[in-house]
Amino acid sequence: MPTVLILGATSDMAVAIAKKFASKGYSIQLAARNGSDLQSMQSDIAIRYQVPCSVHAFDAVRFDTHALFFEQLQPKPDVTICVFGYLGENDRARIDWQEASRIIHTNYTGAVSILNIISNHYALRKSGVIAGISSVAGERGRQSNYIYGSAKAGFTAYLSGLRNKLVKENVHVLTVLPGFAYTRMTEGLKLPKPLTAQPAEIGEAVYTAIQRKTNIIWVRWMWRWIMLIIKLVPEAIFKNLKL
Ligand SMILES: NC(=O)c1ccc[n+]([C@@H]2O[C@H](COP(=O)([O-])OP(=O)(O)OC[C@H]3O[C@@H](n4cnc5c(N)ncnc54)[C@H](OP(=O)(O)O)[C@@H]3O)[C@@H](O)[C@H]2O)c1
Repeated sequence: MPTVLILGATSDMAVAIAKKFASKGYSIQLAARNGSDLQSMQSDIAIRYQVPCSVHAFDAVRFDTHALFFEQLQPKPDVTICVFGYLGENDRARIDWQEASRIIHTNYTGAVSILNIISNHYALRKSGVIAGISSVAGERGRQSNYIYGSAKAGFTAYLSGLRNKLVKENVHVLTVLPGFAYTRMTEGLKLPKPLTAQPAEIGEAVYTAIQRKTNIIWVRWMWRWIMLIIKLVPEAIFKNLKL
């Protein structure tokens, strides 16, 4: 029975992804800052899908704990899905370094720290899958969220390089660009319905992409073309847009 590790397992997206993999017979390892938040999810998954489900303490910004976290994980996962992230507030982050560094470290540095460790393990054993939930916000910096966007841009570039580095080692790397999604992160925001995915849709898309060894997915197809157009707008025009 293959095992999937979900990093950032309290997120709505992670719950949907975990349930999708459990429904396909995977053992589930749920990792989050506060394990007690995962107790009911753990028993729900174990009972509903009849698969082993374990809970592990993991904090993305406590870099010095990452090596031991992975060392203690038994069995080692076949698939690792990096879901954690932090949107934060751009205006606050411009004046408050705590907020800026939390955005950068959660979305970028923390992901690099744990995925370096896990990808080195996969490279040695010559198998494994890594999926990272990045964001279209990283495709071009916008005034409303460029600190989050730049951290996600770094994460997207990291995943691209990792895929390129590890293809020879039989390790597959998937980049997920969800577009908008209805989750705790976007609670209270007015999102355009046709462009906004439900967590279950993301769970399906991630599972299918991993089976097909797809490299990059835009969960709702329109996003691929929207971002292409956004990237083609000349900088002289782009800098005057309110985005
Ligand atoms: N929602 C969207 O529209 C959207 C769009 C594009 C990309 N994304 C990305 O999708 C991913 C999932 O987000 P979501 O929308 O499902 O939002 P969410 O429910 O707010 O999930 C964020 C998750 O990250 C975890 N997290 C934050 N800081 C952490 C840390 N230091 N260590 C470990 N875990 C930490 C949170 O855990 P706690 O419960 O402990 O806070 C939570 O599980 C994120 O990477 C986000 O950037 C979201």
